Amino acid sequence: MKLLERLVRYEDLEPCRTAFIDTRSPGSDKKENFTIIGPGVAENPDQHVHITLPHGFNIGGARQPPHCLNSQHSHLTNEVFVVHTGTWAFRTGVDAEDGEVILTAGDVISLPSTIFRGFENVGDGNGFLYAILGEDDPGRVLWAPQVFDLAKDHGLILLEDGSLLDQHAGEVLTEGQTPMPRTSSEQVARHEVVDSEAAEKIVIRKNDFNWSSNTALSKSGGVQEVALLGSASKAESLPGGHLGWPHGFSLRALGLAPGASVPAHRRREEEVIFVQKGSCRIGVDGESLELNPGDTFTTPINASRSFTNEGGEDCVVYLTRRGDQPEAPDFI
Ligand SMILES: [Fe+2]
Repeated sequence: MKLLERLVRYEDLEPCRTAFIDTRSPGSDKKENFTIIGPGVAENPDQHVHITLPHGFNIGGARQPPHCLNSQHSHLTNEVFVVHTGTWAFRTGVDAEDGEVILTAGDVISLPSTIFRGFENVGDGNGFLYAILGEDDPGRVLWAPQVFDLAKDHGLILLEDGSLLDQHAGEVLTEGQTPMPRTSSEQVARHEVVDSEAAEKIVIRKNDFNWSSNTALSKSGGVQEVALLGSASKAESLPGGHLGWPHGFSLRALGLAPGASVPAHRRREEEVIFVQKGSCRIGVDGESLELNPGDTFTTPINASRSFTNEGGEDCVVYLTRRGDQPEAPDFI
C-alpha cells in the first residue's frame, strides 16, 4: 500500500448524508457521516469507506451544522470522540435527559457500551467530530426506541441486516427481509443512568491534559506527550491515560512547538495520526508528507516514522494504536 493510499485529507472526506435511520428526522437531516478507516456501523451499504485495512478499531467522523442532532443510541464497543471543531453538547440517557456535558475543540469523551448517547452541535458554525469505535466489527447501532418511530414517520425502516428500507423511494419489504425490532424496555434497562456530574468523569478536557516532556517521544526540545486512553508505559516513562479502562486501543496526544521534531522510530502496532491543529511533516521510510488540520494518516506497522513541525504555530496530533498497552517504540 503506497503512502497516499494511507492518507485521507480533510478536504477529500466523502460524506454520506443518508448513513443512518435518523437521516430524515427533523434536526438530524443535515448530518454528514464519514467512515475513514473501516466500515464502522453505517446502515447504508453505499457509504464510502476511505481505508478498508483492519486496524482493530474503526475511525469515523461526523460533521454537523448548528443545531443538528445525532439521535440517542449506544454501541456494543467503546466509542470515543475528539472534538476537532465546534461546540458540542453530549447528552446521556435514552431520552437525552439524564445528563449533559459541553465540549470544545481538543476535548475527548469516551462512551462505554452501557450509556445511551446523542450529540448536538450547539455552536455557531459547522463542527467536526473525529470518532474511534472499538474492534474491527463493532456490530449494529442500538437506537433509542423513539428513533424508530420518527424514522418510520419519514419513510425509513431499519432492517435486521442493518440496511435501510426507503418507503419514500418506493421500496417495499420483500421475502426474507425482516425489520429490526424496536429496541425493547429490557434492552433500555441494561443501560446506566449517567447524570451531568458522572458524565464529566468520561471526559478529558484539553486544559486538563497531563502533558509530559520526559517521555520516550518527547525528550527532544519543544515536544510534549500525554496518554489519554491506555495503561501506563514504564518503558516510555508515560503515566496511564486519564480514562484508563480497557478500550482495545490507546489514544495519546503529541504536541510539537514550531521547529520541534520526534526522531525516526518504529512501532509494532497500527498507528493512526490525526492532526488537530498546526501542521506536521511525517517521514515514513524515506518519503514524507505534510499533514494539515483534519487530515488522517495510518502508518504501516514496523515502518520508520518521524514527526516534524515545519510550520509557524504549535502542532497537536492525536495518535491511535491497537491495544491498551502498545509496545515502546524502537528508535533508529
Ligand atoms: Fe455512535
